[in-house]
Amino acid sequence: MMRNNLAVIILAAGKSTRMKSQIPKVLHPICGRPMLGYVLDLVKDLKVKTAIAVLGYKHEEVKDVLPAGMRTVRQKKLLGTADAVKTALPLLKNFKGTVLILYGDNPLLKKESLRKLLDYHRKNKADATLLTATVEKPTGYGRIVRDKFGSICRIVEDKDADDFDRNIKEINTGIMCFSKDKLEAALRRVKPDNRKKEYYLTDVIGFIYRKGCLIESVRLSDIQEAQGVNSRNELAIAESVMRKRITDEWMTKGVTIVDPDSTFIGFGCKIGQDTIIYPFTIIESDVKIGKRCCVGPFAHLRCGTVIDNDVVIGNFLEVVRSRIASKTIAKHFCYLGDSRIGRAVNIGAGTVTANFDGRNKHITTIDDYSFIGSNTALVAPVKVGKFCLTGAGSVVIKNIPEKTTVVGVPAYPIKKRGSYG
Ligand code: UD1
Ligand code: CA
Repeated sequence: MMRNNLAVIILAAGKSTRMKSQIPKVLHPICGRPMLGYVLDLVKDLKVKTAIAVLGYKHEEVKDVLPAGMRTVRQKKLLGTADAVKTALPLLKNFKGTVLILYGDNPLLKKESLRKLLDYHRKNKADATLLTATVEKPTGYGRIVRDKFGSICRIVEDKDADDFDRNIKEINTGIMCFSKDKLEAALRRVKPDNRKKEYYLTDVIGFIYRKGCLIESVRLSDIQEAQGVNSRNELAIAESVMRKRITDEWMTKGVTIVDPDSTFIGFGCKIGQDTIIYPFTIIESDVKIGKRCCVGPFAHLRCGTVIDNDVVIGNFLEVVRSRIASKTIAKHFCYLGDSRIGRAVNIGAGTVTANFDGRNKHITTIDDYSFIGSNTALVAPVKVGKFCLTGAGSVVIKNIPEKTTVVGVPAYPIKKRGSYG
C-alpha cells in the first residue's frame, strides 16, 4: 500500500571530511555496496510516494546510485543538516503529514525499527518523534537532554556539550519524524550559533519543545543500528556488523559457514542449501552459488560468478565473471576468469585461464565432462569441446574438438578420447 501521508528526506549532501576522502561519504562501500544503498532499501520498504534525496558534494556521482524516479534537490553550500532539510521542503509544498528524516551515513538501521518509530509517532499523535539509543560511548553523537519530567527538551551536539551533557548516554541516532508544519516553523528559527557554525537540524527539537508541542522517542534495543559512519574506523565497524548480519542470514537459510569470522560474503549473493563454506573465503557481491557446493578454504569468488549445484571450489581459487555448471570440481589453486565451464568437468591443480591479452578480456569455454590436466594454461579466446582431456602442463592456444586428448606446448592432439568417467 502506498503511503500518502508520509514523505521521506534523505540527507546525503555531506563531504567526507573526517573520512579524508575524495569519494562522497555515502558512496563508501559496506560489504560491497555503497552505504547509501542500505538507506535506500529502508525507503523502498516504506512504500512512500514522496522521497527526496538531498545531494551536494559530487552530487552527480551520488545520483547514479539512486533508484530511477527518486526526487533530488541540491544543497549548494553544506551549511548543516537543518539547511539540508530546508532545501528539500519546497518540494513538499502541497504535502501535509509526517516527514521522516534519514541520514545517508546511517546504514545499519533496520526497517523494523523505522516502522516502530513511525507507528509510535502516529499512535501518540506526536509533533516530533526521535529514534534514540543508550550507548556506553556516546562521544561524537548528539545527546538527548530531558527535562525534570523526563520529556525530551533539546539535543546538544557533542562539540557543544558541557561536562554534564557529555555524560548523557542517550544519543540521537539522527533519525526523526515530524509533523511537517511544526518542522517547517522550527527550521525558520535555527541559527548557526554553535561551535561548528552550522545550521543544526537537532536545534529544532528545542524550539518545538518551547512551543509546548509533544516530542516522543523510541529507543533502539540493538544499539549497533545507531552506528553512524563518519570515519574510516566507523566504516570498519559498520562493515563488521553488516558482515555478521549477512553470514547469520545465510546460516539461517541452511548454509554451513565453518568460521563466520574469516568468511566475507558480499551484499546480494545467493547461496543454496547445504553448501559448505570453509574458512578464509571471500565471496563478493551478487555471486550466485548453488546447493550442496563446497567452497574454500582460501577461495575468492569475484563479481559475475555463477555456480550451479554440487560444485567444488577448493583451496586457493580465484574465480571471476565465470559460469560453472553442476558437479564440476576445481579443488586446488587456479584462476578461472571469463570462463564458461560445463557439467562434471575436472579442473586440475594449477589450471589458469589466460583471459587478458593486454587489451581485452576473452572467454574460455570448457564443455561438459572434460578433464583439464594439472597446470594447463588455456589461452583465451579458446574452446574445449565435450569429453576432452589436456595433459599436465599443456598450453592450449587453439580450440579442441570434442573427445580429443591434447598435450604439449602449444597443445596438439594425440588421440581421440572415450567418454570420461
Ligand atoms: C548528526 C547529528 C547528531 C547525531 C548523529 C547521528 C546534527 C546536527 N547532528 O551528527 O545529533 O547524533 O548525526 O549519526 O544533525 N548532511 C547534509 N548536508 C549538510 C550536512 C550534512 O546533507 O550540510 C548529511 C550528511 O551527508 C550525513 C548527514 O547529513 O549523511 C549527517 O551529517 P553529519 O555531518 O555526519 O552529522 P553528525 O556530526 O554525524
Ligand atoms: Ca554522521
